Amino acid sequence: MKDTCRLYTDLAWLWPLWGDAATEYAHYCEHVTSMIGRYAERPAVDLLVIGCGGGKNVLNLKRDFKVTGLDLSADMLAQAKVLNPECTFVRGDMRTFRLHRSFDAVLMDDAITHMNTRPDFLAAFRTAHAHLKPGGVLVVTPDVTMETFQQNRTTTATATRNGLEVVFMENVYDPDPSDEQFETTIVYLIRDQGSLRIERDHWTMGIFSLNTWREVLCETGFRVHEGFYRSCEDEYTVFTCVKGR
Ligand SMILES: C[S@@+](CC[C@H](N)C(=O)[O-])C[C@H]1O[C@@H](n2cnc3c(N)ncnc32)[C@H](O)[C@@H]1O
Repeated sequence: MKDTCRLYTDLAWLWPLWGDAATEYAHYCEHVTSMIGRYAERPAVDLLVIGCGGGKNVLNLKRDFKVTGLDLSADMLAQAKVLNPECTFVRGDMRTFRLHRSFDAVLMDDAITHMNTRPDFLAAFRTAHAHLKPGGVLVVTPDVTMETFQQNRTTTATATRNGLEVVFMENVYDPDPSDEQFETTIVYLIRDQGSLRIERDHWTMGIFSLNTWREVLCETGFRVHEGFYRSCEDEYTVFTCVKGR
């Protein structure tokens, strides 16, 4: 099936409904701030969020940092700007962009899962490295690894706002566990004043073993610290990666 990526284009208006920015993202962002505080070898003032999407993480992180967000999608960036008018947002591809300025810290969150080949995965980390000052840190959290992937896992979320009721049904499936890709399929049930519209979306995403993560981060030139972040149901590995001086 062809990749559609509608959540970042014509259906991007649904993103603000999928998880409340102020509550659901706050705990993870506190963890990111504490990892930066623990490992940065310089004062951490300027933060670059790569793959900032609709700016939900930015909303929480701007309390502690001066944030710049980068994303490929103009529609997602427009939302990020509405939520965070005081922050700077730039459109670019995490594999190739160069802002020609550097930061004290970089966050790469769920967007890294869109790197679905080894060269793209490596290129994204090279981008993060290129945008860090010496002694700065990259925090990166795999959404999924080969060790944590659950075949055919299906999750649902619901949202209600201004007469609109939306159900998000997300399924992950790996047709070939011997390669480094899996599929995410989303069905959206959108009821506007009771009238039902059904839409669907599909992505080919990247999945790598923890050892591949460790190797690629070291190969990029980082000193890597490994820890965990626990949300109510799941536990994630968090890599805090220091750029040497
Ligand atoms: C799930 S959203 C991120 C949401 C974000 N964590 C937030 O706080 O709102 C994933 C984002 O990755 C972005 N993305 C995918 N491929 C990208 C690339 N090659 N370069 C930059 N951004 C990319 C998409 O445009 C999308 O906005």
